Amino acid sequence: MSQKTKDMSRYFTPPDLKAAKKRGKEQVSVLEFESLPEEMREIGKGKKYLIKTFGCQMNVHDSETMAGILELMGYEPTETEADASIILINTCAIRENAEDKVFGEIGRLKTLKTENPELILGVCGCMSQEESVVNRILQKHQFVDLIFGTHNIHRLPHLLQEALFSKEMVVEVWSKEGDIIENLPKVREDGLKAWVNIMYGCDKFCTYCIVPYTRGKERSRRPEDVLAEIRELARKGYQEVTLLGQNVNAYGKDFTDRTYTFGDLMDDVRKIGIPRVRFTTSHPRDFDDHLIEVLAKRGNLVEHIHLPVQSGNSDILKRMARKYTREQYLELVRKIKKAIPDVVLTTDIIVGFPGETDEQFEDTLSLMREVEYDSAFTFIYSPREGTPAAKMKDDIPMEVKKERLQRLNKLQDEISRKKNEALRGKVVEVLVEGESKKNSEVLSGRTRTNKLVNFKGPKHLIGQFTHVRITEPQTYTLKGEWVEEMTVSRVSG
Ligand code: SAH
Ligand code: SF4
Ligand code: F3S
Repeated sequence: MSQKTKDMSRYFTPPDLKAAKKRGKEQVSVLEFESLPEEMREIGKGKKYLIKTFGCQMNVHDSETMAGILELMGYEPTETEADASIILINTCAIRENAEDKVFGEIGRLKTLKTENPELILGVCGCMSQEESVVNRILQKHQFVDLIFGTHNIHRLPHLLQEALFSKEMVVEVWSKEGDIIENLPKVREDGLKAWVNIMYGCDKFCTYCIVPYTRGKERSRRPEDVLAEIRELARKGYQEVTLLGQNVNAYGKDFTDRTYTFGDLMDDVRKIGIPRVRFTTSHPRDFDDHLIEVLAKRGNLVEHIHLPVQSGNSDILKRMARKYTREQYLELVRKIKKAIPDVVLTTDIIVGFPGETDEQFEDTLSLMREVEYDSAFTFIYSPREGTPAAKMKDDIPMEVKKERLQRLNKLQDEISRKKNEALRGKVVEVLVEGESKKNSEVLSGRTRTNKLVNFKGPKHLIGQFTHVRITEPQTYTLKGEWVEEMTVSRVSG
């Protein structure tokens, strides 16, 4: 152990991937975030914070919670590194290149820390749950002041206080955690669209994936807490919520005091006056008929489902431990399309899983053609230490993996283009988010199916729903013209 952490027994809890996996069906405790004592509310007075976020929506929303906690401690936000008294790096461990980016960032911030020794530099998020990462920081990046895990966010005030006063590296990463903390303060980045956690963790243990180790076991928030949060967001004027979980279809399976599923939750959310409700991510395995029935009722439940398939070959799916076959997945897609004919499906796909043959990869291409996704996130397999797939023989050359990725992306682009082309001349409902990044004359917004639409229109439309006729569909975005009269019948798109 490094010199710097030698005396830090009280706050030195290193992560342990094995401990993370050894979990049973322990009772989940729901705890309330305790309000901070007066002296803690003073810590950040006159100081600024900056949070750099990597990874998925879970992390984006965790950063909103950390911002909430820091503001409760008196800190104010800044976008300028040099003005910050505390910089937190909220990290992602999903693929090696995600980790490389973070180490690059930590290295870069060393200069700032040398210039300003008072700066508190913290590393949190999924990478801090990995032993190898914590060890590397302890050995090579001793200028880091604070490391805390995904289960320790509510402890930030105490950890920060310790880091400020002790001047030793504070490390607190709980590996096995099954609690849910309610009433955490949040500073949401957006005033229109909000993230809402419905559950935490993942118990699926897909063989390539690090998430079950970094995020702990599956545990669902109580429906009354979720519904109250959404009602409050509606009251505050939010137009859209996205329900978050690594596997939202497992929602409620851990309740011991009631039977209440994700379908039940969606049916209750449907009755709340918030115009659009999305969810991510749903695992095909637990996607049941009840949920399809509820989604077919539409209303505020939008006709877009992100349904990661990962591979189109049943043998690969088996070795990935996805627990469905190609046929079962296609059957699910058929059922969904029958109930919601204009549904937009999107997916995640991994190429170059250990041992994937050319024929097996061809199955992924043919599945893509059959389902006709509107878009897809595609990845080259990246071995993650501690996962079962990392021990499988991986003899596919990187060149081949890259070539497969290119072929897959090319096919998806063709399909995306064709799907968008079908919207030419159609009128779609758009939630206007703001000016387009490229041209301030142009407004940008999203359809119910989450497609980006650019059009010229008056600025007062920002924050509102309007109608746009699609005139120039492209592969990734749609261009259109504003339809002024509101008498048009609503067409989804
Ligand atoms: N819980 C979500 C996925 C979260 S991770 C789900 O199961 O759908 C987002 C995506 O990253 C995954 O769907 C997968 O396609 C990809 N991914 C995860 N681990 C990976 C790895 N080791 N290498 C490459 N891609 C990976
Ligand atoms: Fe990872 Fe699978 Fe869990 Fe998704 S369901 S987070 S891919 S283990
Ligand atoms: Fe990355 Fe953790 Fe999300 S590994 S993808 S930030 S759950």
